[in-house]
Amino acid sequence: MTTETIVAIEAGVMRITMNRPDKKNALTGAMYDAMTAAMEQADARDDVRAVVLEGSGGAFTAGNDLGDFLATATRGQESRAFPFIRKIATLDTPIVAAVDGVAVGVGTTLLFHCDLVYATPAAKFRMPFVDLGLLPEAGSSLLAPARFGMAKASEYILLAEAFGPQEAKDLGLVNGIVPQAELAETAMAAARKLAAKPAGALRMARQLMRGDRKDIVAAMERESAAFAKALKSPEAKAAFESFLNRAKG
Ligand code: COA
Repeated sequence: MTTETIVAIEAGVMRITMNRPDKKNALTGAMYDAMTAAMEQADARDDVRAVVLEGSGGAFTAGNDLGDFLATATRGQESRAFPFIRKIATLDTPIVAAVDGVAVGVGTTLLFHCDLVYATPAAKFRMPFVDLGLLPEAGSSLLAPARFGMAKASEYILLAEAFGPQEAKDLGLVNGIVPQAELAETAMAAARKLAAKPAGALRMARQLMRGDRKDIVAAMERESAAFAKALKSPEAKAAFESFLNRAKG
């Protein structure tokens, strides 16, 4: 565990907090590693029956840390986002997400793998992959059209338009919109309810609802290959540098 990823277990619930508020909880390789390890623990431990995923400081997450991503691509290494994405997409333990503020990139796409999602009125969702010269990930090329319909998925993935909590709720991505002061407790209460259910039946019900994971894993493999290639492209590098220079300026 690092201070940028806080993991606590209480009453059957593993609470994972992305804690890099000065960078809107943008995810570094170390944060991905910590979250992947935590989720592996969640599946392995009998005393963890549900996971809550949240961000600190009024943001869920701004997605991949673009500086870290650029450095990884320059070194020719695989982004540590991929093991995290594979883990969250195949997790057996149910997940509840608490979204306040920005949920960008993987901050939106990971929500397809959550069972319950609560958001505040300040939540803002966006999948800016194409604008960054990148591709949708975490199975979202399959799951966004399936959940939203192709017309809406095209607005959010191809036009990369942002959307708010009411739209997310209307689209079936978000369960409820709650005031910021109630967000954490709403998510924890839902997770505690899940944790109190018969664990075997809960996990199986979840698997039955989500269908064959092979389809999602195959979509993620297609996406990962295309994403890794795009990450090294001049258009992605130019988009990243443009953001990083803007941040410096
Ligand atoms: N990677 C690295 N740093 C990031 C970041 C990211 N994805 N998102 C935000 N930050 C940093 C900013 O550079 C800034 O750092 P600084 O204070 O040292 O300059 C800090 O976080 C706060 O961000 P800021 O842009 O000032 O906040 P905002 O409220 O105006 O905007 C966002 C928030 C998320 C809309 C905006 O930061 C953004 O578009 N980030 C990039 C999101 C993105 O493209 N993610 C990758 C998807 S693959």
